[in-house]
Amino acid sequence: MFLCAQILYAMTLVSKKNQQTDERVIASATEKGDIIEVTLRPKKMSEYIGQTDVKKNLSVFMEAAKKRREPLEHVLIHGSPGLGKTTLANILAHEMGVNIKTTSGPALEKQGDLAAILTNLRENDILFIDEIHRLKSPIEEILYSAMEDFCLDLVIGKGPAARSMRLKLPKFTLIGATTKLSMISSPLRDRFGNIIKLEFYKEEEIRDVILRSAQILHLSIENDAAIRLSKSSRQTPRIANRLLKRVRDFATVYENTDAINISTVEKALSSLGVDELGLDNTDRDILITIAEKFNGGPVGLNTIAAATNEEQNTVEDIYEPYLLQLGFMERTPRGRMITDRARKHLRLPEAKNQLLF
Ligand SMILES: Nc1ncnc2c1ncn2[C@@H]1O[C@H](COP(=O)(O)OP(=O)(O)OP(=O)(O)O)[C@@H](O)[C@H]1O
Ligand SMILES: [Mg+2]
Repeated sequence: MFLCAQILYAMTLVSKKNQQTDERVIASATEKGDIIEVTLRPKKMSEYIGQTDVKKNLSVFMEAAKKRREPLEHVLIHGSPGLGKTTLANILAHEMGVNIKTTSGPALEKQGDLAAILTNLRENDILFIDEIHRLKSPIEEILYSAMEDFCLDLVIGKGPAARSMRLKLPKFTLIGATTKLSMISSPLRDRFGNIIKLEFYKEEEIRDVILRSAQILHLSIENDAAIRLSKSSRQTPRIANRLLKRVRDFATVYENTDAINISTVEKALSSLGVDELGLDNTDRDILITIAEKFNGGPVGLNTIAAATNEEQNTVEDIYEPYLLQLGFMERTPRGRMITDRARKHLRLPEAKNQLLF
């Protein structure tokens, strides 16, 4: 519940900001941050590698919406960090030929922030809310009628003088992105017409990401070097691009060249402490801690975080998903356990007296 003045103030602020450059709450398609990441980001669906079923389905939904001259239905994209959620949202805007306004769950502090963004949208625009699982619930509630009826329900004033007002909004598409689908409330989830899950990429898809990025960066990379790099990229395009850039640094400094071969890749990866499955020192530290300090587990996430000097969220969001994906860690009701497969990879002795469930 909020005051009309607050909305009007926020609305003028947003429109002023839109005329200027980038801003905190809402940003246009060009993102701040890693310039190379933005350069390497595919702009069209044909440049987006892998995720074949997702692309096929989205192409049908887009064509249907275009034929009906309607905006695309609301889309929720979920998947681990770096798999291409933001990229896909921008591609959908490009393919639909519409504007995209970008904001994120934590950037929206007051109901007025979202109200201002919604009232500044134009017909068929895309509103992209990153980290949508971090929306505060009063803000989330505004989205319900906006998504369903394209209306903004406002309550003006307080107490007995309070009255409600309904503002009509242009028809728009909401694209939400999240790494944590389970944290999205069901009323919000149910309002999305399309729920898209991005999977980890196959090795040859990551190789193609590397070959594409190398071309954009004017690097020459041999095919076996790209394959070797893809094995260590944790099936994630962002990591593949990051590793490629680090390997390029090694090639520039030690070999004074922009041509990358397998030996450059191997030397660079070993200097970076990244093994052939893409595990780095922290991954190994987590697994070895569970094995050696906690007898293989089960051990709670907060204890693992404290013992490895990491934030609990970092362990849960960044490290754990890939270790689970590799089958190196198991989640049980009493905590995390290391698996035999991980012990074999790390050449750790077999489990002794491990509690089984
Ligand atoms: N399918 C793809 N094909 C080629 N490159 C890709 C693909 N998906 C992602 N990338 C590359 O990986 C980088 C990271 O992707 P993106 O920022 O979209 O990930 P994200 O899922 O939004 O991550 P986060 O959860 O951290 O926000 C992009 O800059 C892009 O270069
Ligand atoms: Mg993103």
